[in-house]
Amino acid sequence: MTPTMQSTNNPRPVWLDDKTKSIMDRAIAREQSLSRLLMTYIVTGLIFMLLPGTFLGVWNLIKISGREAADSISPAWIQAHGHAQLFGWVGTFILGIGFYSIPKLRKLKPFALWSAWLTWALWVAGVTLRWFSNIYPWHWRIALPLSATLELVAFLIFFQSVATHRSSGPAKPFEPWIFVVIAATVGLLASLVLNLGASFQLALNADSPAFPHLFDQRYLIVSTWGFIVPMIWGFSARWLQVFMGLRPLRKSLLPFALAFNTLGVIVAFLDYFLLGGILLLAGAAIAVAAIRFFEPAAKPAKIINVHRSFPVFIRIAYAWMLIAAALGIWAARVREAPGIWGASRHALTVGFIAAMIFCVGQRILPSFCGMRVLWSPKLMFIMLFLLMTGCTLRVASEILAYQNYAAWAWYILPISALIELTAVALFAVNLIVTFAGPPVVVPSPLTMTTE
Ligand code: HEM
Repeated sequence: MTPTMQSTNNPRPVWLDDKTKSIMDRAIAREQSLSRLLMTYIVTGLIFMLLPGTFLGVWNLIKISGREAADSISPAWIQAHGHAQLFGWVGTFILGIGFYSIPKLRKLKPFALWSAWLTWALWVAGVTLRWFSNIYPWHWRIALPLSATLELVAFLIFFQSVATHRSSGPAKPFEPWIFVVIAATVGLLASLVLNLGASFQLALNADSPAFPHLFDQRYLIVSTWGFIVPMIWGFSARWLQVFMGLRPLRKSLLPFALAFNTLGVIVAFLDYFLLGGILLLAGAAIAVAAIRFFEPAAKPAKIINVHRSFPVFIRIAYAWMLIAAALGIWAARVREAPGIWGASRHALTVGFIAAMIFCVGQRILPSFCGMRVLWSPKLMFIMLFLLMTGCTLRVASEILAYQNYAAWAWYILPISALIELTAVALFAVNLIVTFAGPPVVVPSPLTMTTE
C-alpha cells in the first residue's frame, strides 16, 4: 500500500493498493501527455492567428484603405489571410480540442497519441504551404494541391482517431449536441474536399493560385456557416448551459436549427445567395432559441477564474452572428456589394467566431492544459472590449467606405484593424503566460475533467 496525494485541494493522503496506484499513474501520465498535445495545438493556432492571419489581414486593410479601393490588392493575399484564420487558427484549435475532449465526453477508448502528433504535423505543413503558395507563387502548381492533400489526410487521421474508436463502456445514446458537432465535422470534410478539388483545378488550368471570386464566395459559406458555426453551436449546447447557468436546452429545436443551417449552406453554395441567406438567418435564430441565450438564466453563471463579463460577451457574440446573417441577406439583394459581403463576413468571423473563442477558450483551455488558471481575467475583459469595439467600427465603416456611402469611413478602417490586432495579441499573451505558469492542481483521476 502506498500513500498518494490526490490533489492540492485535498491534501489528506489516500491509501491505495499497488495495482490501483499503477492504473492511476498511467491515467495521470496520459492526461499529462494529452495536455501537452493540446497546448501544442493551441500555441500553433495562436501563431497562425497572429502572423499569417491577423497581421496579413491588417496589412491588407491598410493598403485597401490607403488606395480607397476594395479590389486594389491581390485576391491571393486576401485568401492567404482567410485560410490562415479559418484553418490555421480556428481549425487547429478545433482539432486540438477535439482530440482532447471528444473521446472523454463520449467515453471512447483512448486513441494512439502518435496519430494526434501525425495529424498536427501534416495539418501544420498543409496550412503553412498553402499560405506560402498564395503569398509567393513559387512552384504554386505543386504546392497548392499538395497543401490541400496534406490538410485532407490530416483530417482523415483525426477522424479515424476520435470518431471511429468504440466506446469503453455500454454505448451511450447520442445527445443532441453531438449531432451538431457531427454535422460540423462533415462541413469541415466538405470544405477540405472542395479545397482539394479547386486546388487541382487551378494547378491544371489557371494562371494564379487564387480561387475565382464566385467560387471563393460559395466556398467561404461552406467553411464558415457549414463548419465553424455549427461546431460552436455544438460546444455551446454542451458547455454553456453550465457555464452561463442557462435554462435547459430545447432539445427538439436544435435539429431544426441544424436543418435550416445545412439547407442554407447547400442552397447558397448552389449560388442562390438570397434564399441561402434567409435559411441561414432562420437557422441561427432557431439555434439561439434552442440554447436560450437571451432568456433569464436559471442559475448563476460559473465565472470562476474568468472575467465576470463572460456571459455578456457570449450574448453579444451570438447577436453578431444574427447581424452577420442579416447582412448576408442584404448583400445578396444588392448587385455590387463588396462592402456588405465583407461586413457580413467579419461580423461572423470577428464578432462571433473570434469572440466565442476568446470567451470559451479562456474559460476551458487553462484547465484542459494541465489544470491551470487564466493569468489575467482583467486582460480578458480588456481584449473582449477591444475586439467588440474594433469589430463594430470595422463592420460599419466597411459598408460606408467600400459601398461609397461616406469617404471619411476609409480613415476609420485602419484604426479598427489596429484595435482588433491589439485584442488578438492580448488574447495570445494571456494564454501563453497562462501555459507558462505552473498547474494549480496536481493532475489525478479525481481532478481530470472535461467539465
Ligand atoms: C485584425 C483583424 C482582421 C483584419 C484587419 C482583417 C482584414 C481582412 C481584409 C482586408 C479582408 C479582405 C476582404 C475585405 O476587405 O473584407 C479579409 C478577408 C477575410 N477575412 Fe479577415 N481580417 C481580420 C480578422 C479576421 C478573422 C479573425 C477571421 C477569421 C476567424 C477572418 C477571416 C477572413 C476571411 C475568411 C476573409 C475572406 C478571404 C477570401 O476572400 O477568401 N478575418 N480580412
